[in-house]
Amino acid sequence: MRRFIVLAALFLTVLASSRRHRLLRKLLQKPVNYDDAPSNVETVWYTNMRLDHFTWGDTRTFDMRVMWNNTFYKPGGPIFFYTGNEGALESFVTATGIMFDLAPQFNASIIFAEHRFYGKTMPFGNDSYATLANVGYLTSEQALADYAELLTDLKRENNTLGKTFPANTRVISFGGSYGGMLSAWFRQKYPHLVQGAWAGSAPLIYMHGGGVDPGVFDNITSRTYVDNGCNRFILANAWNAVLNLSNTDTGRAWLNNNTIFTLDKRTPIRNQTDGWNLNAFMREAIEYMAMVDYPYPTGFLEPLPSWPVKVACGFMNATGTTFSDQELVSMVAQASNVYYNYNNVANATWCIDFTVCGDQGTGGLGGGGDDLGWPWQECSEIVMAMCASGGANDVFWSECGDDIYQVLQDQCVGIFGNIGWNASNWDIDAVKTLYGYDLSGSSNLILTQGHLDPWSGGGYKADQNNVARGIYVLEIPGSAHHLDLRQPNTCDPNTVTNARFQIIEILKCWVNENCDTIPVIDALPSISIPNTECKDIVGGYPWGQSKQNSGIRTSVVLAFFSAIFYSIL
Ligand SMILES: *[C@@H]1O[C@H](CO)[C@@H](O)[C@H](O)[C@H]1NC(C)=O
Ligand SMILES: *[C@@H]1O[C@H](CO)[C@@H](O)[C@H](O)[C@H]1NC(C)=O
Ligand SMILES: *[C@@H]1O[C@H](CO)[C@@H](O)[C@H](O)[C@H]1NC(C)=O
Ligand SMILES: *[C@@H]1O[C@H](CO)[C@@H](O)[C@H](O)[C@H]1NC(C)=O
Ligand SMILES: *[C@@H]1O[C@H](CO)[C@@H](O)[C@H](O)[C@H]1NC(C)=O
Ligand SMILES: *[C@@H]1O[C@H](CO)[C@@H](O)[C@H](O)[C@H]1NC(C)=O
Ligand SMILES: *[C@@H]1O[C@H](CO)[C@@H](O)[C@H](O)[C@H]1NC(C)=O
Ligand SMILES: *[C@@H]1O[C@H](CO)[C@@H](O)[C@H](O)[C@H]1NC(C)=O
Ligand SMILES: *[C@@H]1O[C@H](CO)[C@@H](O)[C@H](O)[C@H]1NC(C)=O
Ligand SMILES: *[C@@H]1O[C@H](CO)[C@@H](O)[C@H](O)[C@H]1NC(C)=O
Ligand SMILES: *[C@@H]1O[C@H](CO)[C@@H](O)[C@H](O)[C@H]1NC(C)=O
Repeated sequence: MRRFIVLAALFLTVLASSRRHRLLRKLLQKPVNYDDAPSNVETVWYTNMRLDHFTWGDTRTFDMRVMWNNTFYKPGGPIFFYTGNEGALESFVTATGIMFDLAPQFNASIIFAEHRFYGKTMPFGNDSYATLANVGYLTSEQALADYAELLTDLKRENNTLGKTFPANTRVISFGGSYGGMLSAWFRQKYPHLVQGAWAGSAPLIYMHGGGVDPGVFDNITSRTYVDNGCNRFILANAWNAVLNLSNTDTGRAWLNNNTIFTLDKRTPIRNQTDGWNLNAFMREAIEYMAMVDYPYPTGFLEPLPSWPVKVACGFMNATGTTFSDQELVSMVAQASNVYYNYNNVANATWCIDFTVCGDQGTGGLGGGGDDLGWPWQECSEIVMAMCASGGANDVFWSECGDDIYQVLQDQCVGIFGNIGWNASNWDIDAVKTLYGYDLSGSSNLILTQGHLDPWSGGGYKADQNNVARGIYVLEIPGSAHHLDLRQPNTCDPNTVTNARFQIIEILKCWVNENCDTIPVIDALPSISIPNTECKDIVGGYPWGQSKQNSGIRTSVVLAFFSAIFYSIL
């Protein structure tokens, strides 16, 4: 544990030197409270996982945590397998309600596997992140090989987990975000073990040479705000307003003592460096709200209202371009408070310097190895290149002019330099080499993107569709970060409901050995958003959908929606 703290402290110190940049960005992960385990799964341990699947010289093993639910399983049914991603498994169980909802329809077993080096699956216990030699075993290939070993073992007699599935059991993998990347890669690498993958919001090509503009994340963030009625000028200019104010005595007095937010006593505004901290703090709220712009209240990252971006834009919708610096900051600060303090907690303060109190946007510094896991993956093989460029691209400030990889490298040295990281420990082309940036050798993949989700720009586009090989790229209007994988809800846009319905037609074919018709996907309907009390819908499949009413077919409507829907041939 001590090592974690030392590392974390270092991480914070050195990152401070490049605080204008938010390159090492978490996909979406909040520390979990382990006492709050989900009640709809049992925890079991696979006690014999090979540490290194790629050599026979090293026979060390570790314990991998698995959560499963076999309540609905009947022999002959498939396994729904969640490829755990960068965090404790609990949060994925909570955020992937669709697996529980569909399991009874399919007689399916539900199995979630925890990614090595996250949550309670620490191959070297408290020393997992202590040395390069240890953390070097944190790779996506090893994690996929863990999942392959687990699934293979589950079909053996007298196996580790004490429950044997028939040898011909079909498997569908599920995953959101990095978990979606893993799900898709799992099908690519182990097609004999998994019949198909449903990968939600997986930024599979947001990497060097992947053909994605580094600015697309913030471009889409900006679009989500503008489309929700925000005055672009307000967001685009608030950052300079903060810098202006943090440069003068009267400006600082206002920032330190205004009626919109109260700065934590430890992090007052003393100069422009602190102004940058305030900018980064508010920007994080703005970006995360776009990711979790869900139609009903959630507590995935912070307690949020339905459609948080719309609520935030209620504070940034004044018209015109003449505002004082204080007005600009007030408006964006109120919007940020939708994220940081929607519940209006009395005396809430903003601790804007993450070197002092951790990353407030994702629930503070957990202090565990999880905080180092994603940075490690970004500093080794999953090197994501992203930045804002301001101007016409987005409502943030320009950072793309700097050499992104150099900045990232500096950040990696800052975090892992003390255990000896240098540029020979990463490969910005690793994903390209390992998995490739096209789907020419793949099959049976459902790749969904949410139109509102900033990550949606980092995934494959419709030109990769290949229905003959079961590859469906589907951008869902009205959907944020893997909303499709969550528990169905009365407030879900009809587009999400319809996409789920059509995806399930595909899954039915994949789990049926005798399915010989290739499922085709119709265009999604034009979006309409239910105006009703938001409640989970349990066991509601097929949610009023049928093959006949599922698609819009007139070319006029299609043309109108062409910007938000990648048509599927
Ligand atoms: C690991 O760290 C935790 C939390 O500090 C502590 O409770 C536990 O005893 C440590 N385990 C070992 C094996 O040192
Ligand atoms: C499995 O999930 C269902 C639906 O959430 C739940 O009702 C049931 O209790 C769960 N079974 C176990 C063993 O947790
Ligand atoms: C689920 O199991 C029941 C009972 O064995 C069976 O009648 C039903 O057809 C199965 N459903 C599917 C989709 O296989
Ligand atoms: C599984 O265990 C049973 C009971 O101990 C034994 O009879 C059987 O041979 C074992 N099967 C295998 C493949 O080891
Ligand atoms: C996204 O980027 C494109 C190309 O630079 C630009 O035309 C568009 O206005 C941007 N969208 C927003 C909302 O900034
Ligand atoms: C910041 O200060 C500059 C220089 O005084 C001024 O031109 C600008 O309008 C101010 N506000 C913003 C939001 O840039
Ligand atoms: C903050 O403003 C209030 C009300 O204007 C004033 O009473 C108080 O002295 C100010 N505090 C500081 C630290 O400037
Ligand atoms: C801003 O203030 C902090 C705290 O006094 C100080 O550490 C830092 O060096 C200052 N930055 C600049 C650019 O003056
Ligand atoms: C801004 O949004 C708020 C809240 O939805 C609304 O009350 C107000 O009328 C809107 N203002 C403008 C100028 O559209
Ligand atoms: C908020 O601060 C005031 C004044 O310091 C204090 O009297 C009050 O108890 C605090 N409220 C909460 C909920 O902490
Ligand atoms: C990088 O670290 C390795 C040891 O991990 C060392 O052999 C190598 O010389 C280092 N390279 C540089 C450029 O420092």
